Amino acid sequence: MNKKTKRSIFIAFLLIVFNGTLYLALADDHKGKKWYEKILNHDDHDDHSGKHGKKKRERHKDDDHNERYLKQVNDPIYKNVCGGCHFVYQPELLPSASWMEILANLDDHFGESVELDTDSSKTISGYLKSHSAENSSAKRAAKIMRSLGGRVPLRITDIPYIREKHHELSSNVLKRESIGSLSNCSACHTTAEKGIYEDDNVKIPR
Ligand code: HEC
Ligand code: HEC
Repeated sequence: MNKKTKRSIFIAFLLIVFNGTLYLALADDHKGKKWYEKILNHDDHDDHSGKHGKKKRERHKDDDHNERYLKQVNDPIYKNVCGGCHFVYQPELLPSASWMEILANLDDHFGESVELDTDSSKTISGYLKSHSAENSSAKRAAKIMRSLGGRVPLRITDIPYIREKHHELSSNVLKRESIGSLSNCSACHTTAEKGIYEDDNVKIPR
């Protein structure tokens, strides 16, 4: 074989491999993925089925962030006190340093004043700390921590990972009476209360 033939065979081989990848990627029925995400096997979306889940788990053997969903809020005091004005955010959505900062400034809480007796304060801070993003086994919490890189935001909606996920929403949509602001997670995420933020369960209200 001369050099030229060898090179042609090599190029043909590359084309076959690439085509195969493209075919497999497009044949994958993973809903909601862009074609290039499929090809690059972009894993920013959550696993939807056992098949995908298994693949991911194998790839992330070395970390223990395998939980698909956030844990449903189960502390009655946190739910009652902190759910009085807005959606009860899962503690896994912020690092504990953020929660402590929020609790330390309740007299000026985004323009509101929130009063807490000492007992409730202890219970809430214990609950938020032990269930915070860095103490979570959820994949999303790991993404939140990674995207923060040590920053301590006062808002979930200031986390780069969260901002990036919503950059396509226009301010006109957010201002709708049925929504109000991006902070109102459960307006669009129909399963937010269960800690499920899959894109399949998003429905933007009119
Ligand atoms: C008196 C009403 C009220 C109560 C009670 C209240 N909040 Fe808020 N909270 C607000 C308002 C108003 C905002 C700003 C919402 C917005 O910008 O749309 C807010 C925003 C937040 C945010 C940021 C949401 C975002 O944009 O990412 C967090 C986190 C939060 N509150 C946690 C708490 C916690 C923890 C408690 C309980 C200790 C609590 N809140 C109790 C009124 C309240
Ligand atoms: C106005 C509607 C709306 C509100 C309010 C909203 N979201 Fe979303 N969210 C969306 C949309 C739309 C997507 C993108 C879905 C997609 O990629 O198809 C999304 C995506 C996400 C994702 C990524 C889902 C995935 O599978 O990749 C997370 C996590 C998320 N939102 C969390 C939140 C949290 C937490 C809040 C509240 C602090 C919130 N969202 C408020 C509409 C909203």
